[in-house]
Amino acid sequence: MAEPGKHTEEQARALLLITRSLLSVATLTFFTVMAIVMVHFMGLENIRAAWKAFRADPVPPAPVAAPAPGAPAVSYWQAPVFDTVSDEAVTYGRELIANTALYLGPKGKVAAISNGMNCQNCHLDAGTRVFGNNYSAVASTYPKFRARSGMEESIEKRVNDCFERSLNGEALAEDSREMRAIVAYIRWLGTEVPKGEVPPGSGLVELGFLDRAADPEKGKSLYDQKCMSCHGKEGAGQYNAEGTAYAFPPLWGEHSYNTGAGLFRLSRFASYIKANMPLGATHLNPQLSDEEAWDIAAFVNSQDRPGKDIRKDWPDISKKPADHPFGPFSDGFSEKQHRLGPFGPIRQAAQEKKQSRKQGG
Ligand code: HEC
Ligand code: HEC
Repeated sequence: MAEPGKHTEEQARALLLITRSLLSVATLTFFTVMAIVMVHFMGLENIRAAWKAFRADPVPPAPVAAPAPGAPAVSYWQAPVFDTVSDEAVTYGRELIANTALYLGPKGKVAAISNGMNCQNCHLDAGTRVFGNNYSAVASTYPKFRARSGMEESIEKRVNDCFERSLNGEALAEDSREMRAIVAYIRWLGTEVPKGEVPPGSGLVELGFLDRAADPEKGKSLYDQKCMSCHGKEGAGQYNAEGTAYAFPPLWGEHSYNTGAGLFRLSRFASYIKANMPLGATHLNPQLSDEEAWDIAAFVNSQDRPGKDIRKDWPDISKKPADHPFGPFSDGFSEKQHRLGPFGPIRQAAQEKKQSRKQGG
C-alpha cells in the first residue's frame, strides 16, 4: 500500500517544478518582448549610444546648489512684505531705487544729478533679490568702517558713493527728502536682521579666483554671443519706448558707471553677472561658468567709461583688495595684474605679509 503522505509529497514536488519552469518561461518571454519593443521604438544605434553614455558617465552631475536630500536647505534672506507698508518715506524710497532716472536722472523731475541708470539696475528687484546685490545687510552693518574711504561710513555716505560712482553723478544732500526716503526704505528692508549680522544670500556671490589672468579677447566673443542682444554692440544699452529710462542699461561709454564704481572691480562685476546675467539667470540657475564671468568682466571693464578722481581712496594702500585696478600698491605686482589677475598670488603675498607682521617680522 502506498503511503498517502509520500504520495502528496511527490505531487507537491512535481507541482513546484512545473510552477518554476512556467515562471522562467514567463520571465524569459517578458524580457524577450521588452527587448523587441525597445529595439523597435529606440533603434539599436540609440540603445548602444545610451549604454555607452551610461558607462562613460555612471553618475550624472548633480544640479548646481541643489541641497542633498535630507540636508537642511539654506534659508536665504527674504525681504519683508512691501504691499502693506503705509510709511510714505519707505514707499517713496522704494520708488526712487526702482525708478531713479525719473526723479534724479538727466531729465529728472526732482533734480538732474545722475546718469540715467536706476539703482535697481544693479540692486535687483529694488534691492531685494537673493545674490542680486540686495540691501539685506545694510541696516545691520552700518555705520561701519570702510577701508576705501578710511573712515566710519553712514548709510547716507554709502548711498552717495553709488550716486557719485555707479550713477556717475552728484551726491544728494543728506537731509533732502529723497535721501531720507532712500535710507528709510533700506532700513525698513533690514528690520528683521539682528544688528551686526549678514544674512545668507546678502549682496553678491563670491567667486573663486582663476589661476590665470582674465582674458578680454575671450570675453569679447562671449559678450557678442550672450550680452550684446540687450546691452548693444557698443555697450550703450537701450532706452525704453517712452525714452524715460533704460530698458537695457549701458555697460560702458559715457552713460555708464565710472572707474571709481564697485562694478569696475573685476571681482564685483564677475560676481554680479554670475548670479544674475544674462537676464533670467539666478544663483541657483547660473548661465555662465566662473571662467566666462571673469573673461566677460575683463572685456567690459577694458572699454571706455567715465573717469573718477579716486586718489583719496584707500588712504592705507596696503588695504587695497587684490583686484583694485589703480596703483600705487604696497606689493610688487603690476597694475595690469591688479586689473586682470591672476589674483591668487597677490592675495597670498598679502596674507603672508600679514602673518609675518603678526609674528613680529
Ligand atoms: C552700476 C551698478 C550700481 C548701481 C547703478 C548702484 N549701485 Fe549700489 N552698489 C553697487 C556695487 C557693485 C556695490 C558693492 C557690492 C559689494 O561689494 O558686494 C554697491 C553697494 C551699495 C550699498 C552698500 C551695500 C552693502 O551691503 O554694504 C548701498 C547702500 C548701495 N549700493 C546703494 C545704492 C543706491 C541707493 C543706488 C542708486 C542711487 C545704487 N546703489 C546704485 C553697484 C551699483
Ligand atoms: C535679455 C536681455 C539681457 C541680456 C541678454 C543680458 N542682460 Fe544684463 N541687464 C539686462 C537688464 C534688463 C538689466 C537691468 C535689470 C533691472 O533693472 O532689473 C541688466 C543689468 C546688467 C548689469 C548691471 C547694470 C549695468 O548696466 O551696469 C550688468 C553689469 C549686466 N546687465 C551685464 C550683462 C552681461 C555681462 C550679460 C551677458 C553675459 C548680460 N548682462 C546679458 C538685460 C540683459
